[in-house]
Amino acid sequence: MKRFLPCLTLLIALAGCSSSNDLHDSMEEMKEPFKVMRESGDADQIKAELAAFTKSVSVAKMQKVKPEDQSSFDEGMNKLTDLIAQVDAALTAGNLEEAKNQLNQMADLRKEYHDKFGVGKKN
Ligand code: HEM
Repeated sequence: MKRFLPCLTLLIALAGCSSSNDLHDSMEEMKEPFKVMRESGDADQIKAELAAFTKSVSVAKMQKVKPEDQSSFDEGMNKLTDLIAQVDAALTAGNLEEAKNQLNQMADLRKEYHDKFGVGKKN
């Protein structure tokens, strides 16, 4: 018992770390495709990057954050998922300008939630 409790504490701490790394890693993976989409004027390229972006968002979306932040995090990720669907629909409809507008909204959403969670300004 003397050793069991410290071990258990360590295990819980490690489990906590691993889930926040998953969030960090998936966010980092979203960074590059998002940048390419924002800089691109080519609908096919945006569509390809959107697929990679969506994959990482779906991993980020499953992560747990601090209990008091969870509902706000889930709300932001749901808004992000809605915007992804709108970019996809705009591209399918051949409306590149609309897709670019939605990507701007995504950048605003990122800023809003990163500010809320105190994430570094540059990202
Ligand atoms: C275009 C959309 C987004 C992109 C490209 C993006 C990208 C990133 C990047 C690169 C980081 C790492 C920052 C650093 O280490 O300083 C990060 C962290 C984070 N982001 Fe996002 N993000 C996006 C949207 C969101 C949204 C909508 C939320 C909330 C609902 C969110 C919540 C977080 C949180 C909580 C962290 C800190 C996680 C950690 O590093 O442990 N992000 N994001």
